[in-house]
Amino acid sequence: MSRLIVKTATCEYKTNPIGTDSLKPRGPGLQSRTRYYYRIRVWDQQGRTSEWSETAYWETAFLGTDEWVADWITADMSADKTKSEPAYLLRKSFSIQGTVAKARIYATSLGVYELHLNGGRVGDALLTPGWTSYNKRLQYQTYDVTSLLQDGGNAVGVILGSGWYKATLGWKGEKSLFGDIKAALLQLHITYEDGSEVVIASDSSWKAETGAILISEIYYGESYDARLEKAGWNCADYGDEAWRVVTLLDHTKETLVAQENLPTRVIQTIKPVSVFTTPAGDTVLDMGQNMVGWIHFQVKGSPGHKITLQHAEVLDKDGNIYLGNLRSAKQTIEYICKGGSQESYEPHFTFQGFRYVKVEGYPGELSLDNFRGRVIHTDMEPTGSFECSDPLINQLQSNIVWGQKGNFLDIPTDCPQRDERLGWTGDAQVFIRTAAFNMNVASFFTKWLKDLKADQLPDGGVPFVIPNILEGDHSSSAWGDAAVICPWTVYLCYGDVRVLEEQYESMKAWVEYIRKQGDNEFLWNSGFHFGDWLGLDAKENSYIGATPKDLIATAFYAYSTRLFAQTAEVLQRAEDAREYRRLYEQIVQNFRCEFVTPNGRLAADTQTAYALALMFDLVEGEVKKRVAKSLAGHIEENKFHLTTGFVGTPYLCLVLSENGYHDVATKLVHQQEYPSWLYSVNKGATTVWEHWDGIKEDGSFWSDDMNSFNHYAYGAIGDWFYRVVAGIDMDEKQPGYKHILIRPQLMEGLSYARASLKSMYGEIASGWEVSGASDGIDNGSGKRDSATEESSKHIKVKVTIPVNTTATVELPSASLEAVSEGASGEKISQIVGVVDSKQAEGMVILELTSGSYEFSYLM
Ligand code: BGC
Repeated sequence: MSRLIVKTATCEYKTNPIGTDSLKPRGPGLQSRTRYYYRIRVWDQQGRTSEWSETAYWETAFLGTDEWVADWITADMSADKTKSEPAYLLRKSFSIQGTVAKARIYATSLGVYELHLNGGRVGDALLTPGWTSYNKRLQYQTYDVTSLLQDGGNAVGVILGSGWYKATLGWKGEKSLFGDIKAALLQLHITYEDGSEVVIASDSSWKAETGAILISEIYYGESYDARLEKAGWNCADYGDEAWRVVTLLDHTKETLVAQENLPTRVIQTIKPVSVFTTPAGDTVLDMGQNMVGWIHFQVKGSPGHKITLQHAEVLDKDGNIYLGNLRSAKQTIEYICKGGSQESYEPHFTFQGFRYVKVEGYPGELSLDNFRGRVIHTDMEPTGSFECSDPLINQLQSNIVWGQKGNFLDIPTDCPQRDERLGWTGDAQVFIRTAAFNMNVASFFTKWLKDLKADQLPDGGVPFVIPNILEGDHSSSAWGDAAVICPWTVYLCYGDVRVLEEQYESMKAWVEYIRKQGDNEFLWNSGFHFGDWLGLDAKENSYIGATPKDLIATAFYAYSTRLFAQTAEVLQRAEDAREYRRLYEQIVQNFRCEFVTPNGRLAADTQTAYALALMFDLVEGEVKKRVAKSLAGHIEENKFHLTTGFVGTPYLCLVLSENGYHDVATKLVHQQEYPSWLYSVNKGATTVWEHWDGIKEDGSFWSDDMNSFNHYAYGAIGDWFYRVVAGIDMDEKQPGYKHILIRPQLMEGLSYARASLKSMYGEIASGWEVSGASDGIDNGSGKRDSATEESSKHIKVKVTIPVNTTATVELPSASLEAVSEGASGEKISQIVGVVDSKQAEGMVILELTSGSYEFSYLM
C-alpha cells in the first residue's frame, strides 16, 4: 500500500499568466475609494467543484491626485533648518451628528508621522509614509477609522517627525536632503448611513504645538521629556486655545501615490537574555540577538530623572561595548521621567541596530522584565525554511534571516546601525534571490524598483543608492545592474509579468547606458566601478578586490543584456528580443577576445573572475571545463579558503556545484577558519557581517571605518542552501515555480538537509536523509569518518509538489531499480504521480505531478 498522498484539487487559472494579455484590465473600471469583495472556488481535473472561499476584499484609494482637497500644513516655518527639531503635534477637533456607515483617513507627510484619533494611535504601521524618492513619489496611507469615530466631539491628530525626509542622512552629516520643512496632509472622509459625505481635511484651522519628543531622528535616536507630554492632546475636549495656528505649505500633490509596500511593523518582541557589568563599569543588557528596532522599557522615577540607552552591536575584546563602527550615528535614547506612577516608553521616529544596550541612570534595581526588544521590519510573509544536521550551518541560516529582517525596512538597506542605512543597489541585487526564499519580497521590491526607475538618470545611469541621496559618481557595474537583475528575479520567483512591464524601459535604459560607455560598444571598460568590493585579494589598504574592473563590468553587461533580451521575449517584444539577443552574443564574443585565451585561460586568475565567467555563461565547452577546474584549483591551493568580495561570493558555490565541484563548494561552506561563513558564526555572530574578519582572531576589529555586523550581502549563500543543498529550483521557462526542478546535492558531513518554500502555487518541500552504519556524519565539524563506505548508505528524498504544478526531480546517486516509495516499498513504475522516470549518469530523473513523495534507496 502506498502512503503517497496525491492532492487532486486543481485551481484552474483561465488567464495566461505569461505574456501581456494578463495585464489588460477586464471587467468594469474601478471606482475611487471603493471596496471590492471577492471569493474563490476551484475545479479539479475531474471537474469537481470546491466550496466557495471566505469573502475577501481589496479597496481602492484615490484614483487621481485631483481628489486631494486637503492642504499641506506645517508648524516649521521659522525653524533653523540645519538643526535637529522637536516633533510637532498637529490637531483638529470636529463633531459628528448621525450614524457613520464608513470613514477613512488618507494621510501622508513630508517627514514621518503617527496618526491619532480620539485618544489613541491609529493602526500599527511604523515610520509612515515609508521611504521613497520623495520628490518624485510620495506614498500616502489609508486607515479605516469607522469604528473609532464617536457621536458628538472627535479629534484627529498627527505627530510629525523628521524621518528620512529631513533628518541627518548619509555619512556626510547632511540634513534636509529632500526638503527643509516638515508637513502633513490628511483627509478624513465620513460617509453617513444616508449616503451623505463630510470631509475633514488638513487646513488652516488646525493647531500645532511641540510635545515630549525633543529630537527623534533615524541615526540619532530619540530625546524624550515625558514632563512635556500633552495629555489628552488627541481628544476632542482638549483645550488647544494656546496652540499655534498651522501654516499652509505650498507643496505639490502630484507626486502622491497610494501605499505600495507592506507596512513596517513591530514583528517580534524579545526579552533580554542577561544584564552584566562591563570592565569599564557599564551596565549592559544583552538581547541575545543582533536586532533592529528599539527598546521598550518601564520605569518608576522622580520627575526630571534621566535614563540613557546607548545601543551597540558587539563587545570589544575587553568586553566593553563597541561604538566605533557606528561612526556618527548616536543610536541613543534619552528619557526624562515625568514622575509618579510607573512610566512606559518606546521611541517614535528612529530605529537602532544592536545586540547590547548600555543603560545609564535606571533608578532602582534593573530587572530584565522591565525591558523588551521590539524587532521592526517590513511585514513580509516568511516563506522559506532551511535546516540541516550541522548546527553551525543552521546558525548561519538564522543569521541570514536576521540580516534580512534588519535590513528590509521599507527599502533594502546595506546596514541598520551606522550613519548609512541606505538602499545600496549592489547589495540588493546580490541578495534578492536568497531574500525571495526566506520571505515574500514581491511588493517590497516592486515598490523599491519604482523608485529606482524614478531616480534613474536621463542617460539611463543608475545611482548607487535608491532612493538617491548621493551626488557625483553613479552607475557602477554590479550595482546599477540591480535595474535588470531585481525585476527579473521578482518575475522568476513570483511569475508576475507586471514587474517586467513596469520596469521595461528602465531595464532597457540601463543596458543602453552601458552600451554608450567607453570606446567599444561590446565591452564596458570605462568609468567608475566598485569592483569586487571588499574582495580579499585586494591590495594593501584597498577595498577593491584584484579582479579587473573591466572584466567584472563586461561580465555584468553581458548578463544584464541577456536578461533584458529574455524580458523582451517574455513580453513578446520581438524586435527588442532580437536586437538584444544579438547584442548579448557580441558582448560574449568580445568578452572572450578580451579576457579568455583561445586555450581557455582567463585573463585574471581570481576566484571572482572564474565565478562570473561560469555564472553568466561567458565560456562554453572545453573552455568552460578548464575555467571550472581553475576555480576549484584556486580554492584548493588556498586550502579551501575564499578570496571573493561582494561580486564573486554570491556565485562561488553555485558555479562549483553546477560544474562538477560540489565537493569543493561543500568544503568551502564547512570551512571554519577565516575567511569563511562559519568563522563569524564561531565568533558568536547572530547576523551576517560586512567583512569576513569584522572581528579578528585576537578579538580586535577590522576597522572603525566600515565594520557593520549586520550586512546581508554575504548571506547570499542562502540561495545555494535552498537551490543546491535542498535542491528547490525552478524551470525559468515556467516561472513562479510552475514547473519545479528538485535537484538536491548531498553534502558531505551532513546526515540530512531540508527546505520548504511557500510559492505562489503552494508549499514546495525538498529534503534528504542519509543513514546507515557507515554514514560518516560528524554532526557538523566537517571532518569525515575515514571508515565511511559510500556503498552502504541509505538515502531518503522527500518531496512535496503543490497542486497545479509539475516537477522534474533528480535523485542523486540513485539507480532506477534501487528506488522505491518510502513506506510501501513500491517500485517507481507503481508510484501514483510519477509520470516518467529515467536513469541518467549518477542519478535517476523523475517527472512528477503534484503530491507528497518519499523516495528511498541504497547508494
Ligand atoms: C556599503 C556597501 C555598499 C558600498 C559600495 C558601503 O558603504 O555599506 O554595502 O555596497 O558602500 O561600495
